[in-house]
Amino acid sequence: MKILTLDDFDLKGKTVFVRMDMNCPIDPETNEILGTKRIEEAIETLESLKDSKVVIASHQGRVGNSEYTGMNKHAEVLEKLMNRKIKYVEDTIGEAAQNAIKNLEDGEILLLDNLRLCAEENYEFKPENAAKTIMVSRLSKLFDLCVLDSFPSAHRSHPSIVGFAQVLPACAGRIVEREVRNLDTIMTVAKAPHVIILGGSKVPDRLEAIKLLIQNGRADHVLLTGLIANVFMRAQARIKSPLGIKREEEIVAKAHSLIGEYPDVFATPVDVAIDKDGQRVEMDVREIEKEDKIFDLGPKTIEYYSKLISGAGTVFISGPAGFFEKENFKYGTTQMLNAVANSMATTIVSGGHLTTALKQQGLADKINHISTAGGALVLYLTGEKLSMMKALEYAAEKYRTK
Ligand code: 3PG
Repeated sequence: MKILTLDDFDLKGKTVFVRMDMNCPIDPETNEILGTKRIEEAIETLESLKDSKVVIASHQGRVGNSEYTGMNKHAEVLEKLMNRKIKYVEDTIGEAAQNAIKNLEDGEILLLDNLRLCAEENYEFKPENAAKTIMVSRLSKLFDLCVLDSFPSAHRSHPSIVGFAQVLPACAGRIVEREVRNLDTIMTVAKAPHVIILGGSKVPDRLEAIKLLIQNGRADHVLLTGLIANVFMRAQARIKSPLGIKREEEIVAKAHSLIGEYPDVFATPVDVAIDKDGQRVEMDVREIEKEDKIFDLGPKTIEYYSKLISGAGTVFISGPAGFFEKENFKYGTTQMLNAVANSMATTIVSGGHLTTALKQQGLADKINHISTAGGALVLYLTGEKLSMMKALEYAAEKYRTK
C-alpha cells in the first residue's frame, strides 16, 4: 500500500484527530437516525485507538437540507454500540471544542459537532490552501496524528479531508484500509459485461462519473433509477414538465448529450410508481402527467433490469431506486437488491441507504463487497484518484519511517 495505516504508528498517549463519515440517513419528519451502519463501522478504528485521546469529526447532511443536523444523536448511538462513555461538544473549532480536546485523558473519545457548521468545510480547497484554513490552523496544533477514515467523503477536498494531512502525520483508518484493499482486488478480477445500476438523488455528481465509467470500460449497461432516471427521461422528452431540481436545464442537457454519445448504454424505466394521496399507483411512462410525483420503478422496469443484471459479469449498484424510506415505494429498491444478490456476477453494493436496505433484507452475505460510500466509490471505480487518497499518499511520502 502506498499509504500509511494505524499499524505504522505508536498510538499510546497520542491525541488523534479522526475524520469519520457518520453522515447517516435521517427521517425528515422526526430527525431520527434511520440507519446506523456508518456509526457501527467506525468502531474498528476506535478500538485500535483505545490507548489514545481520540477526537472524532464528521459532517452530517448538507447545509439547508433535511439531513443537516447536529451530532448529539450520533454520540448517543455510538455510546450504546460501544457500551462506553462518548464525550460530545456542541462546537467544531471554537474555544469549547478546543478546551474539550485539551481536557481529554488517554482512552477517552470526544465527538465534535457537525463539521459543516464551520463555513470552510462547505468548500473545496487545494490541499496547500486547506492547510491554511482557520479550521486546520486552530485544530492541528492540538493533535499528534490525523487518521482519515471517511471513505464515503474521500472525493471531497474539504479542509478536514485534505488539510490536516499537509501539516500532521496522517494515515488511513481501518475502513479506508479495508475499502482500498477489497476494491483493488475486485477490480483486478472484474469481468464484462459491467452493469451499473445508478440511483439516488446526487445527480450532478453521478453525471460526472458516468462518462468516466463508460470511457474506462467499467459500464457496458447503465440502468437508471431514482431521480437520475427522471433527469434522463426528461432529456428523452418522456417527462414533459420540470422536476424542480437545482441547475435543472444544465443537468438535463448533460444527460441529453450522454444519451446521444452512448445510445446503447443507457436503460431508463418503461413504467413507474407515483404517489397519489399516499397510495402507490403504477403506470406506463407515457401516461405520466405534469403533477405526478414519481417515487419508484414499476414492475415491467424491474423485470427488464433484473434480466440485464442476471447476465452480468460484474454488477455495481449505487443509490436507492426510489423513495425507499416510504413503505409503499421501497419495492423497486428491494427488488434491485434481490436481483443483484442472486446474480452470479461479482457484486458491489454502494451507499449508506442501500447498505441499510440490504441489511434489512438479510442479503448482505450474498454480496462480494459492501461499501457505505456512494459518490466516492463511483468515482473510485472510474480509476480517478480521490482527494483523500492523494492526501494520504502525500503524508506517507513525508512521514514514512520504515
Ligand atoms: C455521502 O454520503 O456520499 C458522503 O457522506 C458525502 O456527502 P456529500 O455528498 O454531502 O459531500
